[in-house]
Amino acid sequence: MPKRIPLTMNKPPQILILYAHPTPHHSRVNRRLAQVAAKVPNVQVHDLYELYPDFHISVRREQALVEQADLIVFQHPVQWYSMPALLKQWVDSVLTPGWAYGPGGEALRGKDFWLVATTGGSVRSYQAEGHNLFPFSAFLPPYQQTAQLCGMRWLQPHLLFGAHQVNQQTLAGHIEAYRKRLANYPNWPELLATDTPIPLTGS
Ligand SMILES: Cc1cc2nc3c(=O)[nH]c(=O)nc-3n(C[C@H](O)[C@H](O)[C@H](O)COP(=O)(O)O)c2cc1C
Repeated sequence: MPKRIPLTMNKPPQILILYAHPTPHHSRVNRRLAQVAAKVPNVQVHDLYELYPDFHISVRREQALVEQADLIVFQHPVQWYSMPALLKQWVDSVLTPGWAYGPGGEALRGKDFWLVATTGGSVRSYQAEGHNLFPFSAFLPPYQQTAQLCGMRWLQPHLLFGAHQVNQQTLAGHIEAYRKRLANYPNWPELLATDTPIPLTGS
């Protein structure tokens, strides 16, 4: 695990949410998550599909934003067991060698990485007997290793399964849990005890 760089005491921790939803007007969950997150102090919701509908990402602008963040959040609906195409394009173009990884690539070192994602499939679908065949955790290693390669600490993902089916109460609880996590960062119980690695978990 990377060595933690302590957060500066006199500066509140900055949270950058890379929000990627190709059809936000059809969103039941992510749009509400993003709206609630945007009201939390020191959180910036960076709406990639709004900013870059043509997929022409400003690498310098994105790198500057990331550099000032302590916690980097990928928030998106799961599409084909992965992230939406524009977020993948963001990873491909912004996480450059010599900046994000490799010799001289220290820009992300010591930051925290948090995946916040929703699935259409239920928890039961993400098992050997279900139509998705694998537990959701089987789809996480590309995210985890990307974070690891860049020296970021992997935090336990915040996942909502069955996004179209969950009842209003479950949805409201999920959204409130997100708001609280953001508002309390970095004072999360599992982080207070660390330098121990945060386990990779899914369903
Ligand atoms: C192109 C596409 C691919 C999708 N792939 C998956 C998938 O691999 N696994 C899954 O559980 N749901 C999949 N879904 C369902 C979305 O994850 C689901 O609609 C979304 O999480 C709901 O969140 P929202 O209300 O914010 O849109 C897919 C949806 C679309 C449009």
